[in-house]
Order: sequence, then C-alpha cells, then structure tokens
Amino acid sequence: MSTSHRTPTQAIILVGGEGTRLRPVTSRVPKPVAPVVERPFVAYILDDLARHGVERAIFSTGFLAAAIEAQIGDGAGYGLQVDYAVETEPLGTAGAVANCAEMLDDGSFFVCNGDVLSDVDLTALAALHAGKGAMGTVFLTPVDDPRRYGLVELRDDSSVASFVEKPGEWQGVALINAGVYVLEHEVLEMIPRGRLFSIERGVFPRLAQAGSLYGYVDRGYWRDIGTPESYLQAHFDILERTVDTAVADLLGEEYLYVAPSADIHARARVVPPCYIGEHARVEAGARVGPLAVLGAGSVVAEGATILESVIQAGVDIGAYAQVERSVVVRESSIGAGTQLHSAVIGEGCHVGAGNRLVGGICVYPDTTLPDNSIQFHEQLRGKEG
Ligand code: GDD
Ligand code: MG
Repeated sequence: MSTSHRTPTQAIILVGGEGTRLRPVTSRVPKPVAPVVERPFVAYILDDLARHGVERAIFSTGFLAAAIEAQIGDGAGYGLQVDYAVETEPLGTAGAVANCAEMLDDGSFFVCNGDVLSDVDLTALAALHAGKGAMGTVFLTPVDDPRRYGLVELRDDSSVASFVEKPGEWQGVALINAGVYVLEHEVLEMIPRGRLFSIERGVFPRLAQAGSLYGYVDRGYWRDIGTPESYLQAHFDILERTVDTAVADLLGEEYLYVAPSADIHARARVVPPCYIGEHARVEAGARVGPLAVLGAGSVVAEGATILESVIQAGVDIGAYAQVERSVVVRESSIGAGTQLHSAVIGEGCHVGAGNRLVGGICVYPDTTLPDNSIQFHEQLRGKEG
C-alpha cells in the first residue's frame, strides 16, 4: 500500500470543551485559540497535521465557536483547509465526531483533542493503523499518574487489551490515550446521533473488546495545556525547542527572537531563550528572560525583570516590577515595584504599585488592585524575623 493510501488527508479537531481549569487565561478566549508564543494554540496542531499531508481539518466546536472561527478562518494561513461543525449543545467527544460525519469523505480520518501539544509522527501512527487493519489506532504516551486520562493496556502485538477512562485507582507509570487517533469511517456507525456520547467510554472499550483497537506508542514530546502551570510549561518547551514547532525556526540556534519593530534599550538585557513580539519595548536596566515571552506592544519599564513568564500583548510592566513564573494576560498593567511569583493575572487587570502576589494566585479579568493593597504574609514575617 502506498503512503498516500495509508495516511488520512482529513482530520477532526475537537474544540468544544470549556477549558475551565485554565482560567483566567481562558476567561475571555476559548482554550483552543489561547495565545501560545503569540499563536493561537491550535495552530501547532494544524502545523503537525499539514506536515503529515492532511489537507482538510474540521473543527468540531461548541463553546465560543465564533471566537475560534474568527481567529482560524478558512485555514489559509496554516497550509490546509479548515471547516466548522458547530454543536448547539455539547455532544461529548463521540457525538462531536459523529456531528462531522456528513462533512467527511469516505475512508479513515485523524481525530485530535484540541488541547494537546505534541510533535507525534502522524504518518507512523497511520502506517501502524493500516498495517494492522485496525478500526481505530490511538497515539499512546507514558505518564506518571494516569488517573485523569484514558488508561490503556497494550498487548505485545500492539492491540489494546483494555481502555479505561479516568481510572479511579492506579499507581505508577502507565500508557494513556494521548488524545490523537485514527478511525475508520465504519466507527461512525457505533455512535448514536444528536445526543451526548463519549468516545473514551462508549467506543474505545467496545473496539478493544472486539480486538480492533490498536495503540501506537510514541515516547516523544507530549503535553496537554489544561492548567496555567502546563500552559506556562508549554511556552518553556517551545522556547527551549524541546518540542519541534514552527517557532523553532524563528528562534534559531540562539534560542532568541526579537521582532524587528521591538525597541530594546542599549542598557536592557534580553536573555535567551526568549521571544519578544512586534513593537514591544524594554527600557533601560530591565531584564527579560531567560524563558520569557513578551507579547506585541508590551512595555517593560526601567529596571523591571521578567523571568520564566508569559506577558501577553499590550501589557505594561511598571518600573522595578519583578515577574517570575507568572502569566499576565493581554491589556493588563502591573504597577511599579510590584512582585508577581506564580501568579496569573487575567485580561484587563490593573495591579497597582507595591503589591506582592505569589503562590498560584489567580486574578480574574478587569480587576483593579490599588497601590500597596496586597502583601503576602510569609514575606512580611520573613522580613520581621
Ligand atoms: N465539540 C466538542 N463537544 N468537543 C468536546 C466536547 C463536546 O461535547 N467535550 C470535550 N470536547 C473536546 C475538548 O475541547 C478537548 O479538546 C477534547 O474534546 C477532550 O476533552 P477534555 O475535556 O480535554 O478531556 P480530558 O482532557 O479530560 O481527557 C481526554 O484527553 C486525555 C488526553 O489529554 C480523553 O481523551 C482522555 O482519554 C485522554 O487521556
Ligand atoms: Mg484535555
């Protein structure tokens, strides 16, 4: 069989979930198009699909569908055609796949969860699928704690012995459903139309029992971006080129991208790995990086430091502010001398000067904190001692 027969040229991307655990990053923007190094997250999925010859992706959307379509459009910017199947109510992962049935051509297709960053070899996944004559083949990755995933037990011949979604109890490393798979068209017949149905609970266990579900183990890069911590880590991985993405070409061997229109003061320091967007400004004595993204039009004022953090577009960081392991969502401002450590500041917030926000604190959009209004207790105790 030739490669063109083996590798599907169509894909469904599931993007109907609400992404609540990633708030306030996703309070105003759906998770699939949350900016990751200044690109909508699903752009990375589209890159991987296009690289492996996929010509058409159907977004199965529900929650905030219009916002996704507004950013991705017809896919022209990503090297493939993008269409949309919009649910009026959530149909679950299988219902969402079946909702695309009329738009699919005959033959096999890829399905991708919309919140997974990887550079999995889709061609190899499809080759295993075709070689086994499988009805479905799932990309599997090992994780330390499989309890929030789909747990898969694999036989030596790569057939799936069992598939258990969100197992209550399990200890130790195990293979899980990485959220990318190939299905044959016939699988659509197993899914009831127009009602809530889960592929992980209603389809995969049945296919496994019938001996027609296979697993493709890839020990390469894999991460789901479901929480602020993993969202931040995904940025670090892209900046460090641990995962192979289009951004790597911009960063090059220096692990550094500074947009041509950015304005970096001669006495500022930019430490790679680092990405600085268009029209961003870094003033005298400020330091940005390592592991920092500075979004378009953002300003880092005199003496401020940005370390291991994501500053989205249009953010103002005041003089001598310190931002570490934090996310500042677009159009916010951080006052002079304020310290952020492991904080997530939502869109349009104004954090006044002289505050100290630490320890995983999340500030929801449009919040204004006056100057000197929040101090972290332990810090005060530390100073007194
Ligand atoms: N259109 C549509 N409609 N999409 C949906 C719906 C729905 O009703 N429900 C979920 N999705 C989308 C989500 O947006 C996400 O991209 C994908 O389907 C998976 O849903 P999640 O809610 O993110 O599931 P999960 O992370 O708990 O578990 C899934 O992913 C794991 C890997 O990250 C499962 O597939 C697990 O088996 C897997 O291990
Ligand atoms: Mg998920």
